[in-house]
Amino acid sequence: MKNYNKKTSIFQELNKSGGDILKSKNFKSSRNYIQHGKMSVNRHSIFVAQTSLAISQKLGIKCNRRELIRGALLHDYFLYDWHTPVNLREHRWHGFYHPGIALRNAAKEYELSDREKDIIRKHMWPLTIVPPTCREAWIVTMADKYCSLLETFHIMKEQRYRKKSGRVIPAFKRVS
Ligand SMILES: [Fe+2]
Ligand SMILES: [Fe+2]
Repeated sequence: MKNYNKKTSIFQELNKSGGDILKSKNFKSSRNYIQHGKMSVNRHSIFVAQTSLAISQKLGIKCNRRELIRGALLHDYFLYDWHTPVNLREHRWHGFYHPGIALRNAAKEYELSDREKDIIRKHMWPLTIVPPTCREAWIVTMADKYCSLLETFHIMKEQRYRKKSGRVIPAFKRVS
């Protein structure tokens, strides 16, 4: 129950700061694109946002939580599947280019702050040579690598909590 309440409150915070993103058609469409392992880009982005909050809390790093959440939700907003045979060739430099594509897509739909732009643009550091310049971007960069590792090696799987209202809350747990 404690775990359920914790996950509910985290998801409430995600909704408060990034509800418009979570409910948008384009963000929902990223459920159709696989990111790592069996995890979709949609779930990966939510996982990264949750992990970013956990890192800032655990390490006591003061940061703007709203920008942290919004930047994390949009960090992989490239909106294509880079695993399909055609796209695999087309997107062989995906690792290098997708932060720029995500930033362009996000800027078309949302008013981005400088911190949110930094998070999206730099989250692949050190692949994208220029390092992050704010705490929020450093946290998301760390969270992204951590989540990617767990997803790639299938250490983490999606867990769903269904609220009384019938609404599903995405959450994640280690595969035992
Ligand atoms: Fe990425
Ligand atoms: Fe990512």
